[in-house]
Amino acid sequence: MKITVVGAGGNVGSTVALTIAQRDFAKEVVLVDLERKDGEKTFYPSKGRALDQWQTSPIFGFDTRLKGVTSYEETAGSDICVITAGLPRRPGMSRDDLLSVNAKIVESVTKSLIQFSPDTIIIVVSNPLDVMTYVAYAASGLPSNKVMGMAGVLDTARYRAFLAEALDISPKDIQALLMGGHGDSMVPLPRYTTVGGIPVTQLIDEATLNAIVERTKTGGGELVGLMGTSAWYAPGAAAAQMVEAIALDQNRIFPVCANLEGQYGYNDIFLGVPVKLGKGGIKQIIEVDLDAEEKAQLDVSAGHVKEIMEAYNRVAGK
Ligand code: NAI
Ligand code: 2OP
Repeated sequence: MKITVVGAGGNVGSTVALTIAQRDFAKEVVLVDLERKDGEKTFYPSKGRALDQWQTSPIFGFDTRLKGVTSYEETAGSDICVITAGLPRRPGMSRDDLLSVNAKIVESVTKSLIQFSPDTIIIVVSNPLDVMTYVAYAASGLPSNKVMGMAGVLDTARYRAFLAEALDISPKDIQALLMGGHGDSMVPLPRYTTVGGIPVTQLIDEATLNAIVERTKTGGGELVGLMGTSAWYAPGAAAAQMVEAIALDQNRIFPVCANLEGQYGYNDIFLGVPVKLGKGGIKQIIEVDLDAEEKAQLDVSAGHVKEIMEAYNRVAGK
């Protein structure tokens, strides 16, 4: 199993690479990034990160070979590619502000990956996530079950972590579903949140639960405010968990940004929905019952993603 991570000289991509290596299920992880010039000097962040990470192998005890590169030839034959290339969010910047610059990067990175790995599976992480996934899908020519975006695994992890703290229980025992776009209008679903099989609404008061739902929606922004750039540990771990599910054919049920063709009443949109993830990518999009309020919230989120898609189509002259 060969995995490529593009943008891996940066924070999220390097975390994806190291998390995969630590899990020790892949033969090789290739880290791709640009050369960085500083005056007379040229730096190679992907090579530096890969070397540093490989030197943790005796400590963590993994065999996965990590290799840093700046050209795509060495990504040839990758089974799964993760795209984290692009600019991260800075304070005061919305995910949407990143649109046009990251779209160009994601499009060109996708084409380069496909040139050397025409049958690969692509997981997009770059923001604005839902539209960047659409950009990669369009640029790749791959079937839609092989192109997906990572957001829901991260956003539910945040939601579960907040709940675990509030309830003083293990995050491992919290199961949750969250749908919609990776923006402040995402839709955490308390009706589909359980703690050891018990509906969360039986364990927590409404005001506290509502506050946690709101904190989840703005969870990315909270971290940008604390660090001056966006998060990487949880995003990187979340993308690596998706890679693992596909590589090991685990048939995990995760919220994943997927191409909808009629599901939930939407067409021609990439949006976060529960899917079965395993060998070959998305095996099934699962349609759960939504009540009128939940569907209305999902419509708002989908509407927001559509607006960004239209902005992208305008910018790209499509
Ligand atoms: P970063 O700046 O640390 O890393 C990005 C890397 O991409 C840099 O090393 C840069 O050199 C590289 N890059 C830029 N253009 C490239 C190209 N054409 N080819 C190859 N590499 C290229 O940023 P960070 O924090 O790792 O974030 C990466 C992206 O992930 C951002 O767009 C960010 O908004 C997004 N993100 C998405 C999340 C999600 O839930 N989907 C969560 C966290 C971040
Ligand atoms: C996050 O949610 C900013 O999308 C990034 O951390």
